[in-house]
Formats: sequence, C-alpha cells, structure tokens
Amino acid sequence: MNNKMKLLIINGPNLNLLGLREPHIYGTQNYAALCSVVEDTCAALGTQFEIYQSNHEGAIVDKIQEAYGVFDGIVINPAAYTHTSVAILDALKAVSIPTVEVHISDINSREPFRKFSYVSLIAIKTFAGHGIEGYKMALEYLVEHLKGN
Ligand code: DQA
Repeated sequence: MNNKMKLLIINGPNLNLLGLREPHIYGTQNYAALCSVVEDTCAALGTQFEIYQSNHEGAIVDKIQEAYGVFDGIVINPAAYTHTSVAILDALKAVSIPTVEVHISDINSREPFRKFSYVSLIAIKTFAGHGIEGYKMALEYLVEHLKGN
C-alpha cells in the first residue's frame, strides 16, 4: 500500500514563460528549473506530487475540484489570477484542501493592484519574493502542517 502524502502544485498564467518573462522581476531560470525545485523538494520530503500549469482560469478551477479526495495539500501560484479570481478562491474553499500560496516576486512591493490576493483569504501561509526557492519553502511548510507540526 502506498500511503505517501500527495501534493498538487498549481501554476497560473504566464509562469510557463519563466526565464523569458521580465527576468528583472522573475529571474532568469525557466519553468523547467521551477519544476526541478519541486521535484527535488518532494523527493527529499518523500511525498508524491503532480505539477500542473494552465493559462486558463476555468481549467485551474477544474483541477482544484478534481483534487478533492485525491490530494492532501496544494501549493498554488495563481499568478495574475491571484488578484482577480473569486472562482479560484471559491474552488479552494469548496474542496477544503490545506493550501499554501507562493509568488516568485514580492507582490507587496510592486504595483498597488498586486497587494491584494484572493487566495490569501484561504491560504494557511504565503511565501512571496523568494524566487523559485519559494516553492521549496511552501512545500516544506505544507508537509509540516499536514504532519500536525
Ligand atoms: C506572480 C505575481 C503576480 O502578480 C503576477 O501576475 C504573476 C506572477 C509571482 O509569482 O510573483 O504572474 O504570482
């Protein structure tokens, strides 16, 4: 029997363009490098994982709904939908899966419209401004939380 924790990592729009996209803000490492951070961290933590990226709000809502009863925890970077999506917030509320929010950049020190995050209303913790290493921090935090620590 496989009783490893199962974690779902969701990345929103334009994160597939990491490296190319505004490197002065998001760094020069690409999306594959982000996936490597997740893979290495999950291997070290001994968890199962799936990484999902979509540029479409409804697809992200579908993925969160499908996570119900399957995944123990979610790490999400909703990207631009962070600041606009009640639908993603409601999906996370509906499935009630412990969720950690991550942002590569420090959303609090950028344009005013980035300061508000819908997902922060449900996230147990937010990591922002640590680059792609923020995913490692988010996964480690989530696993400790799920273990009850
Ligand atoms: C982001 C910050 C958002 O404001 C932006 O729209 C993104 C990426 C980040 O990881 O820093 O696409 O979520």
